[in-house]
Amino acid sequence: MFSVPTVVSLLLLAVSKAVADPCVAFDADFNLLAFGLNGKDWNAGQQDSWTSGSATDITTTGRPPFDGTGTTCYLAQFFNAIYFMNADKSNPSDVHIYDAAAKSWSTQKTTTGNFDPSSFNAILDHDTNVFYALSHNELYFLDMGGLKAANSSALDWQDVEKSPYPDSYQPVMALAQNHIHFLDVPDVPAGSADIFVIHFSFFQPQSQSYPLPDGSAFPATHGQTASFFQSEGVQQEFAFIPDDGSQVYVINVENNSTHTLAGPTTKDAKAQYAASITALVQLDSTGAVSFIPYKQGDDSTNANAAWASVAKIAAAAPAGSSSAASSGSATGTAASSHASGTGAASGTIQSGATSSTGSASAGKDNGAMTNAVSVGAVVSAAMALVAFLQ
Ligand SMILES: *[C@@H]1O[C@H](CO)[C@@H](O)[C@H](O)[C@H]1NC(C)=O
Ligand SMILES: *[C@@H]1O[C@H](CO)[C@@H](O)[C@H](O)[C@H]1NC(C)=O
Ligand SMILES: *[C@@H]1O[C@H](CO)[C@@H](O)[C@H](O)[C@H]1NC(C)=O
Repeated sequence: MFSVPTVVSLLLLAVSKAVADPCVAFDADFNLLAFGLNGKDWNAGQQDSWTSGSATDITTTGRPPFDGTGTTCYLAQFFNAIYFMNADKSNPSDVHIYDAAAKSWSTQKTTTGNFDPSSFNAILDHDTNVFYALSHNELYFLDMGGLKAANSSALDWQDVEKSPYPDSYQPVMALAQNHIHFLDVPDVPAGSADIFVIHFSFFQPQSQSYPLPDGSAFPATHGQTASFFQSEGVQQEFAFIPDDGSQVYVINVENNSTHTLAGPTTKDAKAQYAASITALVQLDSTGAVSFIPYKQGDDSTNANAAWASVAKIAAAAPAGSSSAASSGSATGTAASSHASGTGAASGTIQSGATSSTGSASAGKDNGAMTNAVSVGAVVSAAMALVAFLQ
């Protein structure tokens, strides 16, 4: 028989292995990259090549272990660099930097102050290359300067101010036109967002409405976002995918409107999203990657567009064949524990096995599912360990 502490620590070990998350992002040439998927990193090339062939293995030295929960990644378009948060569970405050041109990795240390790297949602501002994050309802920023490789001195997370939103708010954040859009703010009606104006460091007191052409509204509910890039300049549109995946809403902040795309084939509140100029990509919690083509300004083409698998990634890293980063025998159900997080636009750290369910940004509809899956992971991990140790 095992002593209780031994079993508990083995289970904790198994569970913490079991919640690693991959991440998808674009580089500045809009090659689709998947990181930490089946333990490796992949380049699926540009959109016209996604539906056949096999992605290129770009795994190389200096990369993070991709064993973190709620890993998020963000394209710094001007620098062709991708920044990662929570890609190394032993060093949760590290920002890992992938220089997509040099194909090299480095690790940027940060000083967190009161910023909690286990519970936040963030955007990377396009023009200033500054992260803004809401953590426990306090807004922080982290200035990445022009970094394509880590600076030897640590960067400081700076406290901006408390948000004007209720402490219960589970942040849903999206970037467009140097404005952070906060969706699903309590007491803000469906179809409207609250705004933080980055250049003036100012929470706009009025909500902004973004009606659909028929006068209807996107729902006031939790979800994920991804900002579409433009061929030049800052983002003007972002996708909002409610947790039920019923539809994709594209919010245009230039003309204050919303139009719709088909909801993703896989309805997955734990999926993460990334957008280029011409596609929205979903990485679901089994590791499957799919996309819907997008053409800005062509509402009827967009309304009829359909989701398809990024077959090139499926060929290289079949979904569900192992968990994100680890290949241990106890991790079969790991992918289901995927925390929500979105690629270039924002990421939410979910409460997983290793953090409390009371964290500010735990998805309000997701916590129970995460915990349920974690229990499943514990049980299967326990069975695997018992089988192994007998
Ligand atoms: C590294 O950080 C220091 C202090 O913030 C700054 O003065 C310097 O410019 C940075 N170096 C690079 C290469 O960004
Ligand atoms: C969008 O709404 C804002 C605030 O209500 C307004 O200032 C702006 O003119 C609107 N833009 C358009 C194109 O209607
Ligand atoms: C707003 O602009 C977008 C992008 O060009 C376009 O798809 C949409 O139809 C426009 N909406 C309105 C109400 O003008």
